[in-house]
Amino acid sequence: MSLFSTKATPRLDPRDVPVAPMVGPLISMRNLEKVFETPAGRSYVLRRISVDVQPGEFVSIMGPSGAGKSTLLAILGMLDSAWSGEFMFAGHPVHAMSHKQRVALNKEHIGFVFQQYHLIDDLTVLENLDIPLSYRNVKKSEREAIVADTLDRFGMVGKKDLYPRQLSGGQQQLVGVARAVIARPKLILADEPTGNLHSSQGREIMELFKKLNNEGTTIIQVTHSETNAQFGNRIIELRDGWITGSEGPVTA
Ligand SMILES: Nc1ncnc2c1ncn2[C@@H]1O[C@H](COP(=O)(O)OP(=O)(O)OP(=O)(O)O)[C@@H](O)[C@H]1O
Ligand SMILES: [Mg+2]
Repeated sequence: MSLFSTKATPRLDPRDVPVAPMVGPLISMRNLEKVFETPAGRSYVLRRISVDVQPGEFVSIMGPSGAGKSTLLAILGMLDSAWSGEFMFAGHPVHAMSHKQRVALNKEHIGFVFQQYHLIDDLTVLENLDIPLSYRNVKKSEREAIVADTLDRFGMVGKKDLYPRQLSGGQQQLVGVARAVIARPKLILADEPTGNLHSSQGREIMELFKKLNNEGTTIIQVTHSETNAQFGNRIIELRDGWITGSEGPVTA
């Protein structure tokens, strides 16, 4: 049984898409560093991160708890701007961009699955799923059809009018994944997207990601699971803020 369809493809208005030549890597980081000032002193969380991700890759970031995986993903998703170094996204110099420009890039190109879900508390499941579409140039009737289709594919029709606090952790995680993929972003960033799911549901999410990836979506996931990592083409290992290993392609 396949729960998921990837046929709903809202069209983007070319006027909304920042013009950039799509040659070379989708992501290119050079000497990126993240430091927290704490009462105990400076705490280095990311150290001289230099990494390229090509369009169409499916990368898994692995490493022990506290290694800096979520921190790196938040920077990749342009949700954090307190770092130093160089970060190019689709030819755009993120390091030189204003907050507003970063938010625009995020909304246009990125779907993010948060480790702690981060659904909007005072919106229903249906309304949460509509948010990414509302950023796009998609007609209301088309949006409604895409949301209805997605609710169906994720088995959430019966929950559509509930608020996040009325859902189980696993159900919130499913809505989080649905929200990240619904507008067919160029890049999906997923932080432990199956951590709270039953293994068969987890496998279905990985199969959905694989399908989207085969259709051209670039995916970067954080995972502790070797099984999930095997769905990707490359593993980046992070330890104490350093990239300590990179292996792949895992599959041809
Ligand atoms: N606001 C903050 N102030 C100080 N240190 C912080 C802050 N936020 C995160 N850190 C530190 O940054 C480090 C990396 O945290 P991060 O959440 O990126 O780890 P992670 O690899 O995602 O771990 P996990 O697998 O447990 O999710 C941790 O040591 C954490 O204590
Ligand atoms: Mg984390």
